[in-house]
Amino acid sequence: MDDLDFYDRTVLLRVDVNSPLDPESEAILDDTRFRSHIRTISELKDAKVVILAHQSRPTKKDFTTLEAHGKKFQEILDRPVEYVEDVIGRYAREKIRGMRRGDIILLENVRILSEEVSEMKPEEMGRTLMVERLSGLSDFYINDAFATSHRAQPSIVGFPLVMPSCAGRLMEKELNGLGRVITENSHPVTFVFGGSKVDDTIKVIKNVLKRGKVDKILLTGLVANVFLAADGVDIGKKNLGFVEREGYVKQIEEAKRILKGFKDKIVLPKDLAIKKEGERIDVNVKDFPVDYPICDIGIETLVKFSNVVENAKAVVINGPAGIFEEEEFSLGTCEILKASTRSKCALIGGGHTASVARRLHLGGKVRHISTGGGASIAFLAGEELPGVEALKRSKEKFKNRLDGSVGRAADL
Ligand code: 3PG
Repeated sequence: MDDLDFYDRTVLLRVDVNSPLDPESEAILDDTRFRSHIRTISELKDAKVVILAHQSRPTKKDFTTLEAHGKKFQEILDRPVEYVEDVIGRYAREKIRGMRRGDIILLENVRILSEEVSEMKPEEMGRTLMVERLSGLSDFYINDAFATSHRAQPSIVGFPLVMPSCAGRLMEKELNGLGRVITENSHPVTFVFGGSKVDDTIKVIKNVLKRGKVDKILLTGLVANVFLAADGVDIGKKNLGFVEREGYVKQIEEAKRILKGFKDKIVLPKDLAIKKEGERIDVNVKDFPVDYPICDIGIETLVKFSNVVENAKAVVINGPAGIFEEEEFSLGTCEILKASTRSKCALIGGGHTASVARRLHLGGKVRHISTGGGASIAFLAGEELPGVEALKRSKEKFKNRLDGSVGRAADL
């Protein structure tokens, strides 16, 4: 951003404000990710800012429009932010053409466009309708969505291929913060993986194990349930049904293979908290199957995991241990996060995990709280992030045109 002159220019700004929503009212339950973009947006005060963002994924319960997100931005920035119920249609394009210096608009959830969530090559992403239409109306693209930069999707990878682009301030902060964790700490590290994105997590588990970057992997959340099932524990019909509905049956087989090769590195919960008639009850895995939903790790596991975490040289925590939205099942997530403040170097990642850390006022007590979940663990595992690679390619391609003296990208 230091190299570009945004004065009176139209800037496409990709952010990540994918946030936990109230299942009934769809109200935004945590605004951490919104706040993380304030610095970038403030530095664009003399530009015309077109914000691109997503909420969840098609078919998920919290996949919805960005109307509430527009209001949240307006409240946090204390400036008008117009929500535009369109991404690339005539309505959105007219709105962009009519913008004046200092205006901010938020376009509709980019994942309503099928091309955003389709598999394609990077070059093809540069030729999607979204990229063609919106790049033709703007001067620069900024990627501040670190948390989505592990996704090869047009709004992340396509724009940098066709127009002068740069990293936003949050992206810069994340890459510096995570980079420091890698360089300052000799590996191996302890990872605590939880949450419900089992496919992403398994990919990273395989990667860190293969590269020898890990000492111990402690598992919680849905990821742990899948590994427990792979380890021969009957997690009960209800819980297996949930794994099936989330589309993770195949991952049970994968988990079996991982356990076969690396059982000494992977630590599974010894007990789990289930919800029976609204109450929390801790059950040893030996006493399963239990036909009640698993909602957290049990106390015995919690004590053991906290002990490993606080004695770790470096620890990375990613994904909640249970249904943290319900107080009695937030115990595992909260206590492991608190234990991380007593370790030498802790990194907390993931939208949900970071929001709990913020609620517990852990900022300043750990090395880095990342807004990225999958993105931060992929980065730490040594993977290239497609969003960052695209920015590098863009810099190469447009290096002579990054001084702000260029006209619209489409005229180049
Ligand atoms: C996240 O919350 O990890 C990012 O917003 C990316 O979301 P995704 O996993 O649905 O791509």
